[in-house]
Amino acid sequence: MKFNIALLAGDGIGPEVIEQAVKVSDAVAKKFGHEITWKPALTGAAAIDAVGEPYPDATHEICLASDAVLFGAIGHPKYDNDPSAPVRPEQGLLKMRKKLGLFANVRPTFTFPSLLEKSPLKRERIEGTDLVFLRELTGGIYFGEKGRRDGGETAFDNCVYTREEVQRLAKKGFELAMTRGKKLCCVDKANVLETSRLWRETVQAMEKDYPEVTVSYEFVDAVAMRLVQWPNSYDVLITENLFGDILTDEASVISGSMGLMPSASVGTDNQLFEPIHGSYPQATGKNIANPMATVLSAAMMFEMAFGLQEEGAVIRDAVNKALAEGIVTEDLADGGKAYGTKEVGDWLAANI
Ligand code: IPM
Ligand code: MN
Repeated sequence: MKFNIALLAGDGIGPEVIEQAVKVSDAVAKKFGHEITWKPALTGAAAIDAVGEPYPDATHEICLASDAVLFGAIGHPKYDNDPSAPVRPEQGLLKMRKKLGLFANVRPTFTFPSLLEKSPLKRERIEGTDLVFLRELTGGIYFGEKGRRDGGETAFDNCVYTREEVQRLAKKGFELAMTRGKKLCCVDKANVLETSRLWRETVQAMEKDYPEVTVSYEFVDAVAMRLVQWPNSYDVLITENLFGDILTDEASVISGSMGLMPSASVGTDNQLFEPIHGSYPQATGKNIANPMATVLSAAMMFEMAFGLQEEGAVIRDAVNKALAEGIVTEDLADGGKAYGTKEVGDWLAANI
């Protein structure tokens, strides 16, 4: 098969980890006789520096014309400490999600047998964990009306959801649950928030269409606690944008390193794949960042965007083998030999 893939490396360690995912994807393509054409495009602080905005139209055109988007990370410290900056790299990410219609962010959390001891949580708690968050990505407080009043002394961010936004996300959740453990947890704060009551009411009304799925409704504060106590009791979790942002960072700890967790953002047409970690500015250019989350995002791309399960499995096997053999970056080296970002990428590609 032939694919065009938009390549949005972004900021910080983005370009370094993306380079490894490209190397690994090319190795897979060679092995299975596919042809990938990479279409690099600007985003994030790198795009602000070059053309004055974080998600330029030219980048959007390239994404629209591609079969999938592979994304690194965005964010630069020069904007973090300047709340008055007129344009921020993160705006590019939000604009991209909205314009590409990526309303569902799929964030799996699973454990690696060889890393069970690396998690700060006890082995018996995390063993067998295999859950997926479906985070709503283009609505809620991230996109509601925001502003200042009273001469800047009062600030507000509105959280708004329509029934249709909840339905389309929940539908993906039910469908995903049907392919897995048939359990769905709706995470909300329905004891306080009106938007959460709309979520709950909407999901309840959909239950009859999926009689095989066992649905639970849990408050977000309780999930934050249960997630680290009994992560292996969950299967598919659906939630709104901000709750999902927070809980998926928390969930990444279960696997042992944030540098391992991939994600996919899907919607009506386009699909985007990215590591869940950020741009890790302190590590930029040092060849120390863990490329595995991006490499595993490429595996998700083969599986979800192109329907190529075997290709994805080959990548996952190579990553598992690297972890078992200690071919890891410093975040996982634990006093042992730490390999560079590039060396891990080379090893994975060679083993494919
Ligand atoms: C994420 C990130 C983004 C978000 C930031 C960079 C805007 O934290 O993808 O989880 O909050 O969605
Ligand atoms: Mn986040």
